Amino acid sequence: MSWVSKTLSSTLGRKLIMALTGLFLILFLVVHLIGNLQLLLPDNGESFNLYAESMASNPLIRVVSIGNFAFILLHVIYSILLSRYNKSSRPIEYAVSKASTNSSWSSRNMGILGTIILIFLLVHLKGFYYEIKFGEMPVVDYAGVTYKNVFAIVAAAYSNLLYVAFYVVAMGFLGFHLSHGFASAFQTLGLNHVKYSPLISRVGFGFSIIVPALFALIPIVMYIQSL
Ligand code: HEM
Repeated sequence: MSWVSKTLSSTLGRKLIMALTGLFLILFLVVHLIGNLQLLLPDNGESFNLYAESMASNPLIRVVSIGNFAFILLHVIYSILLSRYNKSSRPIEYAVSKASTNSSWSSRNMGILGTIILIFLLVHLKGFYYEIKFGEMPVVDYAGVTYKNVFAIVAAAYSNLLYVAFYVVAMGFLGFHLSHGFASAFQTLGLNHVKYSPLISRVGFGFSIIVPALFALIPIVMYIQSL
């Protein structure tokens, strides 16, 4: 067995994969959020449609997109491997378990939170990604050039209150998942220095509230605009 496969099949290696893929996905969330906030500009979707076109036609972004899907897959697969390993190492529960006093609710429910986010992601990709790539798209004209009207697809989806509610609730779960995942990734990478840990915890806490809240704001505002 090479050192690579040895590392990847050890508990520490699996945790490292979870941390590195998690941090990449956190970075993706920030970029995705900044792009999506353009949906709220008062220009009837022009900035967002031009942005969507520039992303779709950029070969570098297409490579990053493949990496993104690969990292999501790795993150899910390794979370299953780790939780199966944890269960098999302790088949009998502790006689006295005070988990709720020494760990947060999020940290004890990362698997459930991750599964809910995965379900959200599948619905999200079917509704937007799949439709935009393979569906029949409305088009729009800017300065004589025809573009896919991605804004129209998003606006149509967010005119449905049920869909909006689904997004808002899912962002709540994303917040809880991030509230543990952010600091946990830094800890796994050994970056939990006495000096920096409180800062990392605070940044992680802020991130887990602000990012999901801004993601949730988009469907809420677009729903109100659709009335
Ligand atoms: C208001 C919230 C959101 C909006 C409006 C939105 C919008 C979109 C749109 C329009 C696309 C298709 C882009 C294209 O192919 O041109 C997309 C792709 C995607 N979204 Fe979202 N999104 C939101 C939230 C999220 C969240 C919270 C996550 C993750 C938890 C997420 C993960 C993804 C992924 C993984 C893709 C595929 C990106 C790729 O090609 O690599 N999105 N989103």
